[in-house]
Order: sequence, then structure tokens, then C-alpha cells
Amino acid sequence: MGGTQSYHQLKSPKKQNRISRSLFNNSENKISSIGTDNKNINDYYYKSINNISTTNILDLNLKIINGRTFLFNDDYFFPVDYEEADRLQLQHYMYIQIWESYFSSPIKTLLNLGGMNVLDVGCGPALWLMEMATFFPLSNFTGVDIVQLYPSDCMPNNLNFIQANILDGIPFENETFDFIHVKDCLPYFPGKFSKEQIFSELVRLLKPGGWLEIIELEGKMYDAGPNSDFLYDKLIAVYRNRGINYVLESVPQLFEENNLVEFRREDKIIKYCEFDFALQVFLDTFKTMKKTILEFTSIDPEKYEEMLVNSCQELVKYQTSFRNTRFYGQKPLKFETI
Ligand SMILES: C[S@@+](CC[C@H](N)C(=O)[O-])C[C@H]1O[C@@H](n2cnc3c(N)ncnc32)[C@H](O)[C@@H]1O
Repeated sequence: MGGTQSYHQLKSPKKQNRISRSLFNNSENKISSIGTDNKNINDYYYKSINNISTTNILDLNLKIINGRTFLFNDDYFFPVDYEEADRLQLQHYMYIQIWESYFSSPIKTLLNLGGMNVLDVGCGPALWLMEMATFFPLSNFTGVDIVQLYPSDCMPNNLNFIQANILDGIPFENETFDFIHVKDCLPYFPGKFSKEQIFSELVRLLKPGGWLEIIELEGKMYDAGPNSDFLYDKLIAVYRNRGINYVLESVPQLFEENNLVEFRREDKIIKYCEFDFALQVFLDTFKTMKKTILEFTSIDPEKYEEMLVNSCQELVKYQTSFRNTRFYGQKPLKFETI
């Protein structure tokens, strides 16, 4: 166990990042154009997206456990360090391989034409945003996340970040964005803010005619072997114990309840053995969760490692698969009544 430190004490990378170490060259003077001194997020609530840059308004307390960094208050229970950034980046590349696209909503022409405002909620290390901002230089991109795993330099001019806890609301005016992208986040906002509240917050931020796209895992494996089945089951039990429930099947209802139109759903059933990064992501996820799973079960650490190796072999042998789904829909245009 380690002590607690503020996020800023921990900011300088000690480890070199496997995929994109340049992302984490955060320079102190770029961080806080508005300071971290007890300012309330609401003080900045109505900032226009055109005049923010990388903005840090939270001074988070962190804790270090077994060499990994976590949020002190357990609001989010995955680590928030460079190793985790590596895992999320690898996962990003896995999704790009699987989907062969960055989004499904019908917005490509508009993004190319320019002037579109795009928000990525819970952007993590923000590879999706970095690449999108590069592909579509005439549109504007914004990332929001509770921790600053995203870059603060070496980024395209049309990309901004804001560090904020979305459970306090997302700090933008109504009807600011043409496209909102939320990947692998909804299950991780348990507690005081329900999925319904988060969803209506996302819809509040959408312009009429804007698109919302949610990408989620199902939290199930198909055709798993005994070791992988056991470990996955424990992982899901740990999640449930923390109030994290996969929400895939409740997403269509959220679109409907918020009166979004043109709703579509695209599913991919993905075999671990068919994608270069899928096995590695599986392995990294179970390494990340090792301590938490061990606390929750009676398996000893050596047995866990053995089961993990066996699981990877089983994923190939049994052709185990999982589901990933993109949901998207549009906020209706306003029609003038005569
Ligand atoms: C599983 S990661 C997904 C990251 C990214 N969307 C991706 O697909 O790589 C979930 C992200 O949500 C962020 N997050 C968790 N709780 C949050 C909160 N209350 N407010 C803002 N971001 C939060 C985490 O810091 C993390 O980056």
C-alpha cells in the first residue's frame, strides 16, 4: 500500500509508454489556464468550446496500491496511470481493426465539410480523438475525462480537452455539439448519477440534428473454456460488487426515452483468435484486475497466473468470442410552427 498524492505530484511519467510516450509530455505551464485552486466546475460551466484549451479544473487525490495509481475516492475503480493508458490504446487499435471505421453515424460528409463540433466523453488517452481531429481538420474536437491521460501538447490545433467529473454535469452549454461519442464508459458511472441522467445530459448537449453514438461491450463471452469462463465470471462478479453493470441491452430504451430518431444498432461478434490485439487486451485486462479479483476469490496468485495462461490458449482453441455494439441516433430537428 502507498500513501495519497495529488494528481499533479504524480503527473510526470516515470514509465515510458509503449505506444505513444509523446502523449504524456505534459508541461506544467500548459495545465492550468484557470487554476486548480478550489474552483468549482460550475464556474466554468458555460464556457464556449471555442475558447478553451487543455483545461484542468480538478485537483484529484490519488492513491498508489501495488505500484498502480487509482482515484482516491474510488469513483472510478480502474487504475488511472500510464500502464492503463497503454491498455486503453491497445484496445482502441483492436476496435479499429474490428470495425474498420471510427464511427457509424452518417456524419462523414459533414465532418469533411467542416465546422462540426465533436465531443468524446470519458476520452481516456484520446487516440480516437487524436486520429479523428487529424482526419477531419476543418471540424472541432473536444475530449472530457476525469483524469488527464490525454495529451496536453503534440496535438492537432482543432482538438481541446477539459478535465471534469461528468457526474457533476458536462461543462458546456445546451446544444453545443453535432456529434457525441461515448465508448466503454456507461457502466463505469455507478452511484449518484444514473445512466438515465447521464444520457439526458448527453442529449442536452446535442444540437438539433446532432448524432449520439454509444459503443459498449456486452460483458459476456461465447464458447469459453473452463479457465476463461471462471476468470471472466469472477471479473463480472467484481464489477457487480462495485455497482458496475453492463448496460448493452438497456441502451436502445435510453435512445427511445430521450426521443432520439433514426436509431440504429450494429453488432459485431468478435473471435479473440481473429484479431491481433484481442488476446493482448484480454491478458492486460486480467493482469490489471488481478489484485481486485484475488481479493474477491480464494484463488492464490500462482494459480491465477496459471489460469490466465490456460485461458489465452482456450480462447484460441474454443474460438471464444464476445460482442461489441454501436448504437446511434439523432436529436430531432426543430421545426418552426406557423
Ligand atoms: C474504460 S475507459 C474508456 C476510455 C475511452 N473512451 C476508450 O474507449 O478508450 C473509461 C474512461 O472513463 C473515465 N471516467 C470514469 N469516471 C469518470 C467521470 N466521473 N467523469 C469523467 N470521466 C470519467 C475514465 O477516466 C476512463 O478514461
